[in-house]
Amino acid sequence: MKRVKIRDRTILIYPEVYEPAEDSLMLVDAASSIAFGDHLDLCCGTGIVGLFTADKVNSVTAIDINPNAIKNTKENFKINGFYEKLNVIIGDLFTPLKNVKFDIITINPPYLWDEEPKDVSWNGGVEGRKIIDRFIKEVGNFLNDDGKALLVQSTLNDVNKTLSLINRMGLYGRVLMEQRFMFEGIVVIEVTK
Ligand SMILES: C[S@@+](CC[C@H](N)C(=O)[O-])C[C@H]1O[C@@H](n2cnc3c(N)ncnc32)[C@H](O)[C@@H]1O
Repeated sequence: MKRVKIRDRTILIYPEVYEPAEDSLMLVDAASSIAFGDHLDLCCGTGIVGLFTADKVNSVTAIDINPNAIKNTKENFKINGFYEKLNVIIGDLFTPLKNVKFDIITINPPYLWDEEPKDVSWNGGVEGRKIIDRFIKEVGNFLNDDGKALLVQSTLNDVNKTLSLINRMGLYGRVLMEQRFMFEGIVVIEVTK
C-alpha cells in the first residue's frame, strides 16, 4: 500500500485501486471550488474527490464497483477525520440509488480503452464511452435543480459527442477546465439543469 500527501490530505492507495493522477486532481480542483450540500462521488477509487469536498459539504456518498476501492475510501475518510460525513456503497454507477438527489455529482470514469476489457479502473469499453454515456443518460434524475455535475474525460473520447448527448438529455454542458498532455487533453465538463 502507498501513502502519499496531497496538499493537506493523507491518501492511502491500496494496490488494487486506481492511483490518483492528473485527471483526479483536476476533478478535485473543480469540485472543491463549487462544493455545497450533498455530494455524490461516482467511481470513487481512493475517495480522493470527496476527501477534498468533505469540509464544505453536508455529506459525501461514494460509490465504486470495486470493493477494495470502498475499503480504501473508508480508511482515507477515517484518517483525515471526515468519516462521519461518508456513506459508501459498492455498486454499479447510479444503480444502488433510489429517490435521492444531490447538489454536486462528480465522476472520473474509466475512459481509456483497449481491444480486451481488462482493468475496470481505467477501461471504458468502446471508445471509452461506456460509462460516460450511461452517466449522462441518468445524471438528470439524481441532480437537484440548482445542482452541478462534473465529468472528466479525454479529448480522445470526443468531447463534442458528450456535449451533444448532454444537450439531447435536456441538460446544459460546458467545458469548465482543460489541460493538455502529450497525446490528449483532459477536460472537466460541467452539467447543469
Ligand atoms: C479512473 S478511476 C477514478 C478513481 C478516483 N475517482 C480518482 O479520480 O482518482 C475509475 C474508477 O471507476 C470504478 N468503476 C469502473 N466501473 C464502474 C461502475 N460501473 N460503477 C462504479 N464504479 C466503477 C473503478 O473501480 C475505478 O475505481
